[in-house]
Order: sequence, then C-alpha cells, then structure tokens
Amino acid sequence: MRRNRPAHIWMHDILEQLNTDIACVRLGKIHVIIVKSPELAREFLKNHDKTFASRPTDMASQSLSSGYLSTAVVPFGKQWKKMRRVLIVDMLNQSRMRWLLDKRNDEADNLVRFLYNQCSNNANGSVVSVRNAAQNYSASVIRKMIFNMRYFGKGRKDGGPGLEEDRHLSALLTILSYLYAFYVPDYLPWLGLFDIEGHEKKVRDAVKIIKQYQKPIIDERIRKWRSSNQEQTICEKPVQEDLLDVFILLKDANGQPLLSAEEIEAQVTELQLATVDNPSNATEWTLSEMLNHPEMLTKAQEELDRVVGQDMLVQESHIPHLPYITACVRESFRLHPVAPFNLPHVSKSDSIVAGYMIPKDSHVLLSRLGLGRNPKVWENPLRFDPERHLNEFGGQQVDLREQELRFISFSTGRRGCIGSTLGTTMSVMLLARLLQGFTWSMPPKMDKIDLTEARGCLFKLYPLYANAKPRLSTALYLQV
Ligand code: HEM
Repeated sequence: MRRNRPAHIWMHDILEQLNTDIACVRLGKIHVIIVKSPELAREFLKNHDKTFASRPTDMASQSLSSGYLSTAVVPFGKQWKKMRRVLIVDMLNQSRMRWLLDKRNDEADNLVRFLYNQCSNNANGSVVSVRNAAQNYSASVIRKMIFNMRYFGKGRKDGGPGLEEDRHLSALLTILSYLYAFYVPDYLPWLGLFDIEGHEKKVRDAVKIIKQYQKPIIDERIRKWRSSNQEQTICEKPVQEDLLDVFILLKDANGQPLLSAEEIEAQVTELQLATVDNPSNATEWTLSEMLNHPEMLTKAQEELDRVVGQDMLVQESHIPHLPYITACVRESFRLHPVAPFNLPHVSKSDSIVAGYMIPKDSHVLLSRLGLGRNPKVWENPLRFDPERHLNEFGGQQVDLREQELRFISFSTGRRGCIGSTLGTTMSVMLLARLLQGFTWSMPPKMDKIDLTEARGCLFKLYPLYANAKPRLSTALYLQV
C-alpha cells in the first residue's frame, strides 16, 4: 500500500481486471468492499441503509472531530444522532438559510469585486486564478455564515484572502487530503506508534492552525452569551447573528446548553470541511471544460442574459430558472468528482447484500469514478455533455441531487448529505457569477486547457488560470 499510492488506482484496476462491479480487498483485518454499479450501490444505501449507516474510525477523522464529537465522520450512535439532528433541525433548515441570505450575498458580491479588481485595469482583461477565487468564495461563504466575518485578521482591500484565511483554508484542504486516505496504520494499528509517513503530524498541525483562528472567537462568544443575564433589557441583550450564536444558545430539556465548547468547535470545523471543496472543484472543472468548448460558454451566458439580464447580478432566486448552468455543474459532479470514493459506510452486522455475504465492520466504498463514468450507465461517459441532463429533466429545473446513485453528488439515505440545498446554491451561484460577470478566454499562447486530474484527490492537476474581462457595466461592479 505504501509503494502503490494512491490506493484508489489499484483498487479500480482490480474491478477492471476482474471485470466486476463489486470486489472485496482485505486490508489488515478490514474487509473493504468497492462498488461501481448503481444497482449495487442502491442495495447498500437504500435497501440495507440501516446496516451500513456507520463510519470507520481513522487517524484524521479522530483528530478533526476532537474524538468524534461532530457528525459526518462519527460512527453510528448517540453522538451522531444528536449532532445530525441539530444540523437538520436548527442549522440548515429553510428558514435558517433565508436568515443567512444577506451573508451569502455579501460573499457572492465580494467574489465579483475580487475578480474585477484583478482584471479591470487592462482593456483586454487579465489572467486570474480561478481555483483561488473559487476556493476562497466557498470558504468565505461558510465562514460568514458561522462566524459573521470574512477575515480572521485585517484582510485585504481588494476582497482577496489575507494571510490568515490562506493558512486556514490550506489547513482545511490538508485535512481533507488525509481523511479516509488509506493510511496504513488505520488498518495495522501497531504501525501507528511510529507515524512512519508523517501523516499524523501533518493532520495535527493542520488542526492546530484551524484552532488557532477559531478557538478564541468561539470562547469569546460563549463568554459573551453566558454573561448576558436575565436583568438585561431587550435592547441590551446581544442579538443572534450567525450559526455560532445558534450553536451556543441551543438548550437541552433541562434548559442547559445542549452543546459543549468542544462539540461546537468540532462541528464548525466539520461544516467548513464539508463546504470548501465540492463547489469550487466543480466550478473549476466546469469552466475548464467550457473553455475547451466555447459554444457551452456562449450558451450559458445567453441563459444568464435571458433570465437575469445585464442590469443586475445573478441572485439565488434566479437559480431555479438556470437549467443549463445547473446541468453544467451536475455534469461536473458526474465526470469530475472531488474524490474517487464516497465517504465510507461501515456495516454494523453481518449481512447478505445482493447475494454477497458482507461481514460486520466491513468498509463499503461506493466509487464516485466507477459510477459516474460507468459505460453501462452513461453514453460516452468521458465526454463532458451537460445536454444529457437537460434531456433527462425535460428542460425543467435541473436537480443536483442523484438519489438513484448513478453518480454521487450528495448521496442518499441515513448518512446522505445534510447540506444539499446550501451546496447546490453555492455551486450554481459561484459558476453563474463567474460567467455573468466576466468574459473568459484562454491565457495567451494557449489553445487548450489541460484536463489532467491529480492522482489522489482528483482536483485538476494544474490549477485553472484563465483570462477574465469584465462584461457588465462598470457601475454594477462599483456597487459591490
Ligand atoms: C456541493 C456541495 C456538497 C456536496 C457535493 C456534498 C456531498 C456529500 C456527500 C457525498 C456526503 C456523504 C454521503 C454518504 O456518506 O453517503 C456528504 C455528507 C455530509 N455533508 Fe455534504 N456535500 C456538499 C455540501 C455540504 C454542505 C454545504 C454541508 C453543510 C454545511 C454539508 C454537510 C454534510 C454532512 C454533515 C454530511 C454527513 C452526514 C452524515 O454522516 O450523517 N455538505 N456530503
């Protein structure tokens, strides 16, 4: 395993060589089941969902969640149920999303401002880093929703990230790259004593950086709320402004705080991890594909001009009326997933699934690559073709969810994504703002965008740099 990194490549080779849609690899004492057909995927996450509703414990998940105090990485049990309920009922429901709309709008505006500041001084526009803009948009939307702040430090006048945000975002991405990454001691625990590859140190350092910025804010906020007392008049009492306030003020049946400071800290870290990579990765791939197929760029911009016009910036309320742009994002989720596998599901008992005996504690990995690029399911699977989704939805509102697991976007079942509404909004908004606000073209001396993917996490191997030129009236940019 150490020599043949990344593991997903030889795991997919096994499926290929054995010409099978399901295989079992034994790593240490763990049975790892790899699946690449939608029929089998549905067996696991629909028909036997209850049995496969747990998660493995591993070095990175333990570290980021302060010992499994959050939701997504937590094995099935009381803590997972408590935190999942909090997220569904109190954090990510429709009225909460409406309450936080202004914060998301601020960051969508700031995205346009940041790019405009980089490219407006030159009549032909300038080359900008799409990855940088997209990742920072994703990170700052969730940061604003949780902490009501764009910058941990002084920030930058042009709307770009400061040093603190760069370090924080890079720490989040480091953790994601080591999460469920087939770290050998997770399968042979006695090897963990040595941290041979230094993974553990990298994850711990990243967690430390995240805490360095977040913990003082969380502690101070808890102090503020705990010190506000009954005698204060309504005018004097602090007002709830963001998700952090909501977390702190949740009460249990006895009127005591429902969540400890450690739980809040672990959960807000995990929410940021859940949000930073998917929307930005999908946007970077979509724009790369579009630059290689300019007719798609034209079609998307025509849709924006028709639905939104050129006198205002695209708003969240326009999203349901942008089927083509949504279909482009959906196509990127299918063809260019952010990771080779879905989050692992662990079986709580022995079971028979589609005639296969699956032992208790097996790790089931649905292959995002194997499903999304499966030639038995998708015609011309390697072709980026948004029209296939338009046809499927009959020209109506296109949905980024894929409940039938023909590819993995938000997955389904008991462990399915809780943030699909927010994730959809952010992904479509990000792409739509880039396309509406700027004319995109290849950087000088390039006639094709290289679409090679990284071997581990499946990001684009080379970050996308492209020429951006403002396409709306100057007044509109100056407003933001
Ligand atoms: C485009 C953006 C997003 C995509 C593609 C996405 C995708 C996923 C996927 C594939 C899973 C694993 C499902 C499974 O295990 O079968 C997941 C889980 C999860 N997602 Fe998302 N997600 C996105 C955005 C978000 C956002 C914005 C949040 C919250 C702010 C969020 C919160 C979660 C949580 C809490 C879980 C774990 C659920 C559990 O284990 O019970 N996600 N997501």
